[in-house]
Amino acid sequence: MTRQDIEAYYRRHDSYNRYTVENRRRTSQIRALFRRRRKYFGKSILDLACGGGILGLVAQEEGLRYLGIDINRDMIRSAELRAIGKGSKCAFRVSDIRNAKVKGAFQTVALLGNAVIHFVPSDLHKILTNIEENVEKDTYFLVEYRDVVKMFFAGEWSKKYVEDKGKGRVVSLSKGIDTERGEVKVESRAGGAHNLDFGAAVWSPYILEAVMNGSGWLLVERERTSPQVWLDVYIRS
Ligand SMILES: C[S@@+](CC[C@H](N)C(=O)[O-])C[C@H]1O[C@@H](n2cnc3c(N)ncnc32)[C@H](O)[C@@H]1O
Repeated sequence: MTRQDIEAYYRRHDSYNRYTVENRRRTSQIRALFRRRRKYFGKSILDLACGGGILGLVAQEEGLRYLGIDINRDMIRSAELRAIGKGSKCAFRVSDIRNAKVKGAFQTVALLGNAVIHFVPSDLHKILTNIEENVEKDTYFLVEYRDVVKMFFAGEWSKKYVEDKGKGRVVSLSKGIDTERGEVKVESRAGGAHNLDFGAAVWSPYILEAVMNGSGWLLVERERTSPQVWLDVYIRS
């Protein structure tokens, strides 16, 4: 998917609201995630595919340094409006995390909110290679991802309808499986017009852990945070 596609999708999908600080549900989820796993958050956090930078808000409250990267300019704009103020240790960047070059070392890396739906395993490998110079031994990496295959076979993937401020409805539905690429195909019809296909390929611990291990990251903790969502924590060996 191109940057324009991703922007168009998130603009129509709840007008960005789902992944911005304005969304109280997502904000309280990220706050809870942070509190429960406080020990994995060091002084400096790199938030990959940060959306509206909610983790940045939490980092700011805790006095931690934070860099959020997202390909979607509008998401970053909304994050900056909130988090950049006097004395803020938060910074944001519009970039593709598969090739963005970042300076400095981070004790924690995050890839949250099922952002992995945008990446196939080879992308994920690129992302890990790309941050190689920014991590140290003992850096933690938190990944939150959705078990779309379980949802698919258990009939839990219901068609989704969201009111889109009078512009129509957003619909997302599953379309089948591409067994060669290992992707569950998800179609999103934003506003009934612009159709986008997602290929969700990283949906299971066995896939993610293999990719992480291949790049030198070892599993520390795994939790099924809801019937459909996994949260893995890895450490750089
Ligand atoms: C589901 S949102 C998650 C946002 C946030 N991490 C959270 O947990 O609230 C996924 C984000 O991935 C971003 N994204 C998709 N492809 C990307 C890429 N190649 N590089 C950087 N960000 C990307 C999208 O723009 C979107 O903001």
